[in-house]
Parts: sequence; C-alpha cells; structure tokens
Amino acid sequence: MAKKTRLNVLDLFCGAGGFSEGFRQSGYNILSGIDNDKNTLDTFARNFPKAVAIQKDLSEDNFSGMDKIINEQIDVIIGGPPCQGFSVAGKRLKDDPRNILYKAYLNLIKHFNPKAVVIENVPTILGLYGGEIGRQIVEDLEQLKYKVKVHKVITSDYGIPQTRRRVFFVGLHSKKDFCFPEGRYIKSPVTSAMAISDLPLLNGFLGELQQEYPSKPKNEYQASMRKKSRYLWNHQAVEHKQRTIDIVKMVPDGGNYKDLPEHLWATRKVNIAWTRMNSEKPCFTIDAGHNHHFHYKANRVPTVRECARIQSFPDRFIFYGNRTSQYRQVGNAVPPMIAKILATSLKKVISL
Ligand SMILES: C[S@@+](CC[C@H](N)C(=O)[O-])C[C@H]1O[C@@H](n2cnc3c(N)ncnc32)[C@H](O)[C@@H]1O
Repeated sequence: MAKKTRLNVLDLFCGAGGFSEGFRQSGYNILSGIDNDKNTLDTFARNFPKAVAIQKDLSEDNFSGMDKIINEQIDVIIGGPPCQGFSVAGKRLKDDPRNILYKAYLNLIKHFNPKAVVIENVPTILGLYGGEIGRQIVEDLEQLKYKVKVHKVITSDYGIPQTRRRVFFVGLHSKKDFCFPEGRYIKSPVTSAMAISDLPLLNGFLGELQQEYPSKPKNEYQASMRKKSRYLWNHQAVEHKQRTIDIVKMVPDGGNYKDLPEHLWATRKVNIAWTRMNSEKPCFTIDAGHNHHFHYKANRVPTVRECARIQSFPDRFIFYGNRTSQYRQVGNAVPPMIAKILATSLKKVISL
C-alpha cells in the first residue's frame, strides 16, 4: 500500500463542503462527507470527486457497513450537528433522546478515534441553558480523552468580507496546544464591494448559467477567488416583482427599511427587512436565503455566486440543485477561508 502523505478528513453533516474546502486548501485529503440531503451532497460530490460522498440520515445512529466504505484511518473529524439537535432537560446532553444527532456524532468519534475533532456552531450555543450545552460538549470530548479548546471568531477579522460570528470546539489527542491565530484584518477588513464589484451587476438582466468574466479582477481578494476559474457560474439574478424593485430602489447603499417612507416600514414585518449591503463594509451574515437582504447597488438580492464570494468560496466551486437549495448550501457553509486558517494551525499540532 502506498505511504499516506496527507491527513485524512471525515466531514459529518458536510453540506456543500465549505468546511472541507478550507481543509483541502490547507493540504488535507478529504476522504469522505456524510449528509442526508441529496442536492447538497451532489454539490459536495462534484466538487470533491475523489471523496466518498455518503447520503445518510445520521439520526439513525447506525454505522454498519460504513467501515467497508471508509476503510482508511481518519485523522480529523470535522462538522457539527445542526443546532436544533441540542436540548437539555434534566438529563445530560448525550442521554437526552432529542439529541440523537449529537449522540451519533459522539459515537462516530468513538468509532474512528481521530487525532483531532473540530465542531463548528453558532456562538449562541454557548449561552443556551445557562452555558450547559457548551460545558457538556467540552466534557464529552474530554471523556474521549481529547484536550479541548473553544474559540469564538468574527470572520471579518480574518479577511472574509462578512461579519459572521461562529464558535469552534477543537479537540486534540496530542499533548501540544492548539492555538487559533489572531485576525490580521481587524483594522482593514475586506468590504462587500471588494468581494463582488467585478461581477456583472445584472441590473434588469437575469444572466446566463455560464458567463465570461467582463473585466479583470480589481483587487487581491477577487484575484484569489478567481484562481483556476475560467467561467462564472451560479451568477443569475432572482426575478423580483416590480413593487419589490420600486421599494428597494429607495434604500441607499448600507441602508434599511428606516430609509423608506414610514408607510412602507411594515411591508415586511422583520427587523432585517429591506437591508442593503454596505459597499464600504464587510457584509452581514449570509444566511440560507430569505430575500430580505439586497445588493449594495443592484435592485435585487445577491446572486448565489455573490453570496459564495462573501462566504469566501472560490469561483471554481460550483453549486448544484435548484436555486433555493443553492442559497441554502452557501448560507449554511463554514467559510472556506476561516476553515483553511484553522486547518493550517491544526497541522502544526497533529502529524501523520
Ligand atoms: C450547517 S449545514 C453544514 C454545512 C457544512 N459544514 C459546510 O461547511 O458546507 C448542516 C447540514 O446537516 C445536514 N443534516 C441535517 N440533519 C441531518 C441528518 N439527520 N443526517 C445527516 N445530515 C443532516 C443538512 O442537510 C445540512 O447540509
């Protein structure tokens, strides 16, 4: 058997593969990803053709047959159970039957016993049930002999054009200490315009499935996103009703519903309504697609590719499935750039 040269990764709840993409860019081998959603897994499979994409409902907590598919040593397990999979009512996290996905996750860690485990989630998870969830995740990993560190990040500090807040639990078997690097972009973040201003504005046009780039990249961020990408994919505008266009036209760059005449404030009953990106600041958190957030200049919501740029997905990473699914895949993802930074630091404390 050929000697292994890269650390093997198993991505649980892999989604489209944002987390995996960061690890791949850092030089890891993405061995396999597991998700129960067919469209999402299709995106993962096509972007990671050498990985084994497994469509499986992890709530079944049954891994029979898995060893036949994944028959190499797993060095790192990444991914996190969706946050609705965390509840505590008197019982411990892993003993509460509602937390079946979390239990399956722990069981897979026990089964593969990787050198490192990285769980990503929203930071509000640390405050749930008076901090009980966060404490139990740490304790459960410690019981499996991992030394655990918890890191909260805001992605704009790391050169990602988005103020996304996330928490990473990093568990290590190694005696060495894992250290999350300090952000280098705190004072000069990458802005929304720096991320997407080279993409066709599509004002009034829907855009082709596959497009030529109309201009050269305008900055380092755009150049790095375009690496190895010949054409532009997933850059098609949503067709809005004329009334939506007329209303959003009144909102300036960086504005929101408060910039509209007062009689229009209640047209959408959410406080994020009619929000435009601010071209001179990092973007708000890209979510799974709800049509309340708009481009800083065009009178439409951002395209899937614009969202992907803001999430730091390279343009060569193409999203499949219907457009609703594509928005969800992008919004759900761990930004590859933050995953790469984490993965690169992790490599310093684990070895082959
Ligand atoms: C937050 S997303 C993961 C995003 C991914 N880490 C990335 O960076 O692209 C959570 C994923 O969990 C999957 N999922 C939810 N419930 C599941 C289950 N019972 N079994 C397997 N996958 C599940 C969803 O389909 C979704 O793709």
